[in-house]
This record gives sequence, C-alpha cells and structure tokens, in this order.
Amino acid sequence: MNKTIVVWAFVFAVSLAGAEERLIPDFDPDIAEEIMEICAGCHGIYAQGTPDGEYPRLAGLNPAYLEHEIILFKTRKRINIPMIPYANDHELSPEDVKNITAYISSIKLPRHMSKLDKSKEFDPLARLEESKKMTNIPHYPGDPKAGGKLYRQECASCHGRKGEGKWKKLAPALTGQHSNYLLRQVKKIRKGKRFHDSEDDAELFRSYTDEEIANILAWLSYQDD
Ligand code: HEC
Ligand code: HEC
Repeated sequence: MNKTIVVWAFVFAVSLAGAEERLIPDFDPDIAEEIMEICAGCHGIYAQGTPDGEYPRLAGLNPAYLEHEIILFKTRKRINIPMIPYANDHELSPEDVKNITAYISSIKLPRHMSKLDKSKEFDPLARLEESKKMTNIPHYPGDPKAGGKLYRQECASCHGRKGEGKWKKLAPALTGQHSNYLLRQVKKIRKGKRFHDSEDDAELFRSYTDEEIANILAWLSYQDD
C-alpha cells in the first residue's frame, strides 16, 4: 500500500489529574497496524494485556515510556525473555518503534461498558468487541485507605496523584495496569532485576512489607472505577 496517511493524533488528554499536556506524535497507521499483529499475540489486539498480569497493558501509556522500555529490552538492560525474538533492530527498527509506540499510546480502552441503547437493534458482535477492550481492574485484596496514604507519600510525586503517570518523568501509569503484572515488577525491583528510578530502590522496595504493597495495589485498583 502506498497510501501515505499520517494520522495527527494530538491527544490532549485531560488526564485524571488534569494537569499534564500529553501529545502523541503522528504515525503511519499502515505500518503500525502491521507491527501490531506481532504484539497482539501476547498483549492483545487492543494492547489491553491480560487480566492475569502475564502480559501488561500497553494501551494509552506514554509513547516515550514505551519506546524507552523497548530500548531497554533491545540492550538487555531490562530482561524480557518472551520478547527477545522481537526486540531487536532487525525485527523492530527505530522507525518501527516510533510508529508502534505512538499507535499503541493512542488506543483508548473504555473503563465501563456503554449503556445499551434500547432504540437500536442489539449487536452481539459489537458488544463482544467492546467487552474485550473494556479494562477495569478488579479490586485487589488489601486496605485501599492505608494504601492510598502510603501511595501519596511515596509514589504520587512521580506516578501522579491518582496513579495516572507523569509523562515528563517517564513514570508510567499504574492505575489501569493489571495488578499481578505490577506485583511481579515490584518483586523484580526488590531483587534488583529491574531498575526502578535510582540505585537505592531495590532496598527501598524491600523495606515496604508485602502487606503495604498489597494495600497500594488495592488503592490503585479503585482508581479506575
Ligand atoms: C511473546 C510474547 C510477547 C510479544 C509478541 C510482545 N511482548 Fe511485549 N511484553 C511481553 C511480556 C511477557 C512483558 C512483561 C515482561 C516483564 O514481566 O517484565 C512485555 C512487556 C512489554 C513492555 C513493557 C511494559 C511496561 O509497562 O513496562 C512494552 C513496552 C512492550 N512489551 C511492548 C511490546 C511491543 C511494542 C510488541 C510488538 C512489537 C510486543 N511487546 C510484543 C511479551 C510479549
Ligand atoms: C522518583 C520517581 C518515582 C517514585 C517516587 C516512584 N516511582 Fe515507580 N517508577 C518510576 C519510573 C521512572 C519508572 C519506570 C522505570 C523504567 O524506566 O523501567 C517506574 C516504574 C514503576 C513500576 C513498573 C511499572 C510498569 O508498568 O512496568 C512500578 C510497579 C512502580 N514504579 C511502582 C512504584 C511504587 C509502588 C512507588 C511508591 C512506593 C513508586 N513506584 C515510586 C519513578 C518513580
């Protein structure tokens, strides 16, 4: 196809906190959709990830963060065994990375199913597609009140007041991300298998009890209701 459509995806996301201006660079949708077929095998066709947390949600995340992580995978600074065959310059050139990350960032996942319009004929297929896309994190067991308090003290300065992330800091959204995926990352950070934000973070994260982490995950799981 030689269509040269360039999508101007200026998304002025009035985020949950409403503060940050969030611009998604333009991308070539043909190239992006072709690459997406690879990613969809694990992350889902809407980049929604899997509720068991095996595969993270990518949809709506900061394109610069997504790109940064892919570069970490390529350089093996962040180990991701399932992605090794895909995260190299041959499979995914720097230009491909720009296209796919902007595309994935522009995908919006509804947090609730739309109300059924009784005046229209019921379309089971459309309803099924919508349900696949819908992402609302199930309430995680823990004490959300205590979790929120700790979150505000320890995490909000980078991950945002409601866990929506801060694009400028390359700190990803935690709200809307699958709880078990987040828990796995916390475990990796504690073991020093994933770099968080500073060299001292492995120790810092070990200093939070499992209960405190569960409480934070519980609080986050209420933020997308
Ligand atoms: C074979 C399965 C598989 C395929 C295909 C795959 N991924 Fe992944 N991806 C994973 C797994 C597993 C993780 C989580 C790794 C971990 O636990 O740290 C991940 C994590 C990521 C992350 C980090 C997310 C975060 O929140 O930090 C990004 C970005 C990503 N993948 C992008 C992509 C893109 C873009 C494609 C398509 C080119 C792709 N992946 C294809 C399995 C896959
Ligand atoms: C000083 C800034 C800062 C603070 C404070 C902070 N984070 Fe982060 N966090 C980051 C950055 C930056 C990343 C992305 C690291 C990377 O590039 O892989 C991150 C990544 C994460 C991830 C991985 C998310 C994903 O999608 O893969 C988790 C989980 C996380 N942080 C949890 C927390 C929790 C819980 C707290 C509070 C106890 C916290 N962070 C406090 C900056 C911060």
